[in-house]
Amino acid sequence: MNFRLAAVALVAVLAGGLVALAVLPGPREQVANVLPSTGKALVGGPFSLVDHTGKAVTDKDFRGRYMLVYFGFTHCPDVCPSGLQVVAAALDKAGAKAEQITPLLITVDPERDTPEQLASYVPSFHPRLVGLTGTPEQVAAALKAYRVYAKRVDDPKSSAGYTFDHTSLIYLMDRNGEYIAHFTHATSVDRIAERLAKLQ
Ligand code: NI
Repeated sequence: MNFRLAAVALVAVLAGGLVALAVLPGPREQVANVLPSTGKALVGGPFSLVDHTGKAVTDKDFRGRYMLVYFGFTHCPDVCPSGLQVVAAALDKAGAKAEQITPLLITVDPERDTPEQLASYVPSFHPRLVGLTGTPEQVAAALKAYRVYAKRVDDPKSSAGYTFDHTSLIYLMDRNGEYIAHFTHATSVDRIAERLAKLQ
């Protein structure tokens, strides 16, 4: 159900974020006047949240480490579990480099995803997966920073009566919290693992 959203978000990221790539095809002289020689992607930024142990954390607590950031929610029936399985499998396959990467699940559903709920969920995917939640305002700020779309929609089949349509992207961020690359829950584990293993 989220493939279309992922595609839309992907286009948005490519169009809005990857200034550096846009520079590559053209001669330097032609682009020098319109684009800076280095471009910062527009994905990522400060966040202030609560982890699954109940501790307040910010993006700065992860400085010095790579982050694999996925936005989802624990009641998601299919896409989120796929995304988190891909993250976990890629980490397991990336070898020693994986030790320098922190996988994060930032909830889009803070109402149901309390720290306790996240604590009962994240270890089933990976022992180092960090679950993050917060007030609705804190979560909304994190969504905005990462340009993630999440919309609550009615769902009579769900016990709570609602679910979320949301972007399903896995963001790879560098040691300074800046964007490197992104994948989706449908990207092959091998491709992600290869990219992780190449990190400097
Ligand atoms: Ni989901």
